[in-house]
Order: sequence, then structure tokens, then C-alpha cells
Amino acid sequence: CGIIGYQGYREAVPVLLEGLERLEYRGYDSAGIAIIEGRELKVAKRAGKLVELKAHLNGYFGSARVGIGHTRWATHGRPTDTNAHPHLDCSGNFAVVHNGIIENYQELKQWLTAEGHHFLSETDTEVLVHLIEHYYRGDLLQAVQRMLPKLQGSYALAVISPCHPEEIVGVRQDSPLIVGLGEGETFLASDIPALLPYTRDTYILENGEVVYVTPEGVRILDSYGQPRGKQVFHVTWDLEAAEKGGYAHFMLKEIHEQPRALRDTLASRLDVSSGGVKLEGVNLTSEEARSLQKVVLIACGTAAYAGMAGKYIWERLLRLPVEFDVASEFRYRQPLLDEHTLALVISQSGETADTLAGLREAKKHKARILAITNVVGSSVAREADDVLYTWAGPEIAVASTKAYLTQLAALYLLALYLGRARGEATWALELARELACAPSKVEKIFDLEEEIQELASNLAPHEHAFYLGRGLDYAVALEGALKLKEISYLHAEACPAGELKHGPLALIEDGTPVIALATQEDLLEKMLSNIKEVKARGAWVLALALEGNEAVAQEADRVLYLPRIHPILSPLVSAVPLQLLAYYVAKARGCPIDKPRNLAKSVTVE
Ligand code: G6P
Repeated sequence: CGIIGYQGYREAVPVLLEGLERLEYRGYDSAGIAIIEGRELKVAKRAGKLVELKAHLNGYFGSARVGIGHTRWATHGRPTDTNAHPHLDCSGNFAVVHNGIIENYQELKQWLTAEGHHFLSETDTEVLVHLIEHYYRGDLLQAVQRMLPKLQGSYALAVISPCHPEEIVGVRQDSPLIVGLGEGETFLASDIPALLPYTRDTYILENGEVVYVTPEGVRILDSYGQPRGKQVFHVTWDLEAAEKGGYAHFMLKEIHEQPRALRDTLASRLDVSSGGVKLEGVNLTSEEARSLQKVVLIACGTAAYAGMAGKYIWERLLRLPVEFDVASEFRYRQPLLDEHTLALVISQSGETADTLAGLREAKKHKARILAITNVVGSSVAREADDVLYTWAGPEIAVASTKAYLTQLAALYLLALYLGRARGEATWALELARELACAPSKVEKIFDLEEEIQELASNLAPHEHAFYLGRGLDYAVALEGALKLKEISYLHAEACPAGELKHGPLALIEDGTPVIALATQEDLLEKMLSNIKEVKARGAWVLALALEGNEAVAQEADRVLYLPRIHPILSPLVSAVPLQLLAYYVAKARGCPIDKPRNLAKSVTVE
């Protein structure tokens, strides 16, 4: 989502609309603004693209000098006019825009409803504005400050009120918020591009910081309400660099967003004290879960490889057969399914033609359709019986990274859900606890980034690379090889390590790069033998292993050590260095990383 705010001498509406336009690259499904005109709060919001909002405003600019705006990427609640931001309280005295997820919103909503507050939307955001109304005693800043200790989750927010017609209050917690400093005017934005036409002097807020904008100037306060001395950050980026948050490519930005995306997808749903999960949108009863006899996977590309990992994970944990084939094969192989089959549909966009056709085929056979998707209200989401959203946020680079990692997270959450519903989840507590630590382990992978870049320069001059793995590592090897071929055009093949001697070994020559995944320690001995097999034919081996695995270092030329994690969760940490490796190889080869030739982000033709 994108937030914008303005306080100053210009007409607010055009500034807000231009800001929203500049946040458009983040993708959105609805947009809205709130302004203060005289002592009146006016709101306009519309589902759909920004043009819908503009058409609705019909050239109305008004005279407001203060306002906030928002572009939405739906998480809680479909993209509708009502769910679009800003949200207002019952009295119409406050308007709020928000990015992020309020994890405890249901609890807060229940409490506020009991207190007599009336809710209009399905969003988590709406609790914020009712909380502000609840705590308001004549001081807008104080009302916001009183609300903050009640909130769990990630948020960047901005609030205005006609009772304080020249003020804006903003807060940042795990979701970016930037203050733009002009002469006699102040801007708020979730991202730098929205500010560039007006100013390059900014404050980048840190977690817990509150910004209080008045005609007298800008005050930054910490979470205890104490003033903070803040350095001005002068932006030297051009618009294109700013859209990428200073990263050279969207892909790299999205790789780095993964700890956040993972945390968003997991945190509010996971109960680490019981090993339980709360999955809004997934409604299989215990009886329905117990009656399942098999799972069929329907997905394409990276989503299919997430599903392949899901096969290993679910079969091991749930003892339920999972069939893997890509959607374009599934739909033509006359699959055998019935009402005891769970069809698991995975799609970032929710619009891939083959995936949708597969979903419809499964529906014809009365299978229960469970979808994992990143886009609220997408075709897949609408046609499925149950939906679990990955809260990765919009993914712009064609090669999927954060969507993949959050699809894996969704598969673990669903394993916990189904395991408990089927009454067979002795492993639940341990898995839930380990899963909760995964985002910080992914963060640690970035310590390896320089080393990976150096390794990539060794790989870049080659024309072929092989990825080996066993079990779950094989599923990740497939995704690693796909990443490399998609963006670097280097031919990459993933091979179950045991199959080497049945063919691919013939292709290993002096110096052939082999990436060997060795995170599955029950299969380590076998994997070490396979590394020896390729080494004996002259291969250069880069191994990926969990910290403390000394044996691998004896055999491989180089080892990337990953933070120790439960072996069944290893894809969450092993996929990330492979994404970085592909990225830096493509960069060294001068490829157009975000938009590789011949490929599209969403393939809506069969
Ligand atoms: C295209 C994209 C891939 C993606 C696949 C499936 O091929 O380039 O990155 O994995 O489609 O897309 P979906 O939106 O269904 O996950």
C-alpha cells in the first residue's frame, strides 16, 4: 500500500493525487483521500485504479491545505469502496490511512463493538480510527499516543481531524513512513518517490517514532512521547532509483523484503504457546479434514515449486499423499479425484490461465479447493472454497522471490491447521515455535550477500550449472535453477542427487559449476557421496549446509553456511541465497533482471 499526507500552503488534493500516482508502481486495487475544508472532513474513495478516484472527484480540487491519501493492496477484506482507505470513526471527526497489518484487530474490534462503536468495513485498519475516537480528550496527538500500546502488528499510519484542521499525526512501526520537509509545508509518504517533485530533504522515521505536523513545524517523538533529535536525510536518488528503495532492481528489493513479508504472513496467525493457527478464510471442519484421502497440487512456475516443497512437507507431517504436477499437465492427464480430494491451488497473481483451468477441472470432480494467493479478490481467490493469503505485498520483478517464500510459509501454516484438525499433530508445538523464528533467520542470510556476490562472479562466465539435492533440498534446487535460468539466461538444471548417475553425470566436465544443497541431515551421507561423484569428474562445487555441518566443507570447494533451523523448515533459509546467487550472476552478465526476455509476470494465456 502507499500513504501520502500534506500540510502546507498548496491545494492539497492535487498534491495527494500526484503522490498516489507516484506510488502506483507498488500496485493497488483501490485509492482514497481525506481533506479538511474549513472545519469539515471530506472523503473520497474508490475501488479500482486511481483513474476511478479521479473520475469520482470529477475535477474537484476544493480549497483544502491539509489531507491524507492512500492506495490499497488488500489484505483484510476485498477491494471495495467501503474497504478502501481513509477510514472514519462514528462521529466523522477522524480519518486514518494505514499500511501494514494490525494483528490483534479482531480482539480490538470485539471490545470496541461492545463499547458501542459501529464498524462499516472488513478491514483491520478501521479499529485504529475507533480507538482514536475512544481515547480522544481534545488532543489529537495524545489520542494517537494512547492508542499505540494497544496495537500489535506492523503499521505506518496518518491521522487528520477537522477539530485540529492544521495537524497531521503519523506513526511508524515495521512499515515505512517518511517525512518530506518543505518551506512552510510538510509531506508524509510511505515511499520517497511520492516526495521527489517537492523536496529532497526528509526524515526517515524509525520504529516507534511519531511525527506531529503543525503549521509551526514538524516534531518527531519517541514511543514515550519524548522529542527525538533527527538527522535530515537528503535524497540524491532519481525517481527510478527511489521506486526501488535505493536498490538496483526490484528483484533485489523484494529479496530483502522477505523477512518482513514472512513476518506479516506468519505472525498474526501463529500461536506459539499452543502450536495452533488462526486462518481466516480456511474453514475445513475436523470431519472434512479427516475425510481427505489425498491432495493434488495445481500451480505453475515458482508457485509449483513451492507446492513441490509442500508435497515433502505435508506428506511427512500429515501422512497424506500429495500428487505433484504442474497445472498445464494436471488438467490434461485426466486426474483421478473426488470429494475426498483436496486440490491445493497456489498462485501469486491468482490469474494464471493454466492454474485457473486446473482449479475448474478439480471443481468439476467435486474436490475441495484450497487456494494460496497473494492477491485478494483474484480469480483464484474467488473460485476457491477456502483461501489463505500470503501477505507478501505487490511483487514487481518477473522472477518471483517474496511470493515464493510466503507461499512456503502458508504451506507450513496449513500443515499446522490440517494436522490439528485431523488430530495428528504431535509435532505442532515445535514446528510453530521454529516457524516463528524463521523471519530473523532469513534476515541473517543477508550477512552472506557479499560472499554470494563474489561466488556469482565465478559462476557468471559459465554456460551451464547443475543444482543437486535430495528430499526437500531437491524441491528447492528446482526453484534455485529456475531463478538462475529466468534472469541470467545461464542454462541450469536441477537434478535429484541420486539420479545423477542415470544421465546428468555425463555432462560434468572440468570446472562445471554444481550447487549442492545439503541441509537434509538424514540424507547427508548420500549427499556427500554425490558431491564426491561430481568432484571426481572435475566439477566446482558450491554447497549449502546448515551451520555446524563440518563434513560438507571437506568435500565441497565452497560452503555457504545457513542459520540452523528445523530441517523441515530449511527451504525458508536455503531458497534465499539461491535467489541472491541468481541475481548477482544475472547482474554480472548484464541481464535486464526485472524484466527477463520472453517472460511475463502473469501468464493469462494457456
Ligand atoms: C509466470 C511468472 C512466474 C510465476 C508463474 C506463476 O511464469 O514469471 O514468476 O511463478 O507465472 O504465476 P502465479 O501468479 O500463478 O504464481
